[in-house]
Amino acid sequence: MKIPSVQLQGFFDPQGSVSILIARYSRIKLREMCSLLDPCHSCFTQFVLPSAAITHMLRLSDIFVSYGMIAALKGVSLEVREGEIVALIGANGAGKSTTLMSISGITGLMAGTIAFKGRAITGLPSHEIVGLGICQVPEGRHIFPRMTVRENLEMGAFLEDTRRLDEDMARVFAMFPVLEERNKQLGGTLSGGEQQMLAIGRALMSRPKLLLLDEPSLGLAPIIVSRIFKIIEEINRQGATILLVEQNAKAALRLASRAYVMESGRIVMQGPASGLANDPGIKKAYLGE
Ligand SMILES: Nc1ncnc2c1ncn2[C@@H]1O[C@H](COP(=O)(O)OP(=O)(O)OP(=O)(O)O)[C@@H](O)[C@H]1O
Ligand SMILES: [Mg+2]
Repeated sequence: MKIPSVQLQGFFDPQGSVSILIARYSRIKLREMCSLLDPCHSCFTQFVLPSAAITHMLRLSDIFVSYGMIAALKGVSLEVREGEIVALIGANGAGKSTTLMSISGITGLMAGTIAFKGRAITGLPSHEIVGLGICQVPEGRHIFPRMTVRENLEMGAFLEDTRRLDEDMARVFAMFPVLEERNKQLGGTLSGGEQQMLAIGRALMSRPKLLLLDEPSLGLAPIIVSRIFKIIEEINRQGATILLVEQNAKAALRLASRAYVMESGRIVMQGPASGLANDPGIKKAYLGE
């Protein structure tokens, strides 16, 4: 099967995030593509944890990630319960995106484990992690600029089921009417806010149980930011659990029920979002107060 060049270009995206979508594109041989991404993925193992341990939707236990000599995550543990919005905040380079990419299987772990609904997903290839119901909206959106809005959304779907595709497309259009209006327009010609909506809409096409959002407000005007945050709230109300990475800590702490604060690859604080929002140290470091 010939892979259109626009997709190959996305496949080698240095963030690795687009690769999840490519790997899901049903006409492509998934395993071959994943082995191209990371040879380790082809020899993954999996096992089921004892049922007594199943209390959280997502649990990261003491994970370590390095990029060559650079230690990006130095023993990160966090948990997300079903139905929650959990915020992960921290300065540039703290390791927030690396945490999300580890959950998505894009970045391999040096040590530690990640479990989803009581099942270890450590080492699973990205497309299998998406298949389990975890979908990431990458930092910087990474939509396909030379594909139409509709084609971008199709890239997030399981194309073999056309009835489901139509249903999911209708659901995304109901949430983002502007995407329906512009469904024939090229992704690259959308505004920044519309591109963010497209990136979120594309993720929703896979009906995620857990949505990982990386800096959804980045670079957007305040009025668009508040729209995006309302949409995140609505997605959560409709049933998806959300792990939200944000530099807009104020907005994130308002939206989330719990939050974690990262510094230099470690979780340094955690607790109810309202409590963190009132913490003098957090106010000074992250809320500009
Ligand atoms: N592909 C890479 N190669 C080498 N180092 C990397 C790579 N990606 C990230 N890093 C490093 O890992 C650390 C964590 O980066 P990460 O992108 O996870 O931080 P972040 O909290 O998401 O930052 P930001 O808020 O700027 O998005 C940083 O020191 C960064 O320079
Ligand atoms: Mg980041």
